[in-house]
Amino acid sequence: MNASVKYWDRSAERYARRPIADPEAYQRKLEITQRYLRPDMNVMEFGCGTGATALVHAPRVRSYLATDASARMIDIARMRTADAPIKGLRFEVATPDDLAHRQQAFDAVLGLNVLHLLADPRAMIECIRDLLKPGGVFISNTACLKDTRPCMKPIATLAYRLHLTPYVNFLSRKELEHDLQSAGFQIQFRWVPERSRDVYFLIATKEK
Ligand SMILES: C[S@@+](CC[C@H](N)C(=O)[O-])C[C@H]1O[C@@H](n2cnc3c(N)ncnc32)[C@H](O)[C@@H]1O
Repeated sequence: MNASVKYWDRSAERYARRPIADPEAYQRKLEITQRYLRPDMNVMEFGCGTGATALVHAPRVRSYLATDASARMIDIARMRTADAPIKGLRFEVATPDDLAHRQQAFDAVLGLNVLHLLADPRAMIECIRDLLKPGGVFISNTACLKDTRPCMKPIATLAYRLHLTPYVNFLSRKELEHDLQSAGFQIQFRWVPERSRDVYFLIATKEK
């Protein structure tokens, strides 16, 4: 098990209890996302954490596979639906790489607050592209700290080495868009919430 997964396993209970940082922006992102979801869609979310967003979207689509690399996160997500299962919603311990056998299986993929935690977000974007059907939609929310807090990088690196925080990749909005476009996505929607300027909410579609 890699250090990052261990970190998220350790933090899962705390993460489940934490309040949403910017509830207004979160609500708006849910609403915008739902403009792109339809009842006949098969959706996959990676890095779903304890499943809060999956619970909101799953009732609106045909199937919703919510995955996370951390088994503890998925345990908590499953507990949340134990008493009232949602038809079509399944939680699985997996990374998108583990789903490689499901090429072109999904109409939409969500990756919320996760791309900046990866050493190679471009490889992940290419993996997502392969899991999407032509014309499929990728909805992401990503901290772009290279634009907003570049001076934090040495502190983030030290905190990671001391096992205090997960690995954080200092991405820029431009780099993220470039990676999406060079993987064959077209950007459909971009938003930086006013009160949480670190994050970049992007909706992109795969070429048909
Ligand atoms: C900051 S949390 C975000 C959780 C949720 N998406 C949210 O917005 O609240 C990041 C999550 O990504 C998961 N994660 C990190 N790297 C991953 C990977 N390569 N594949 C799948 N999940 C990953 C972690 O286990 C953690 O649950």
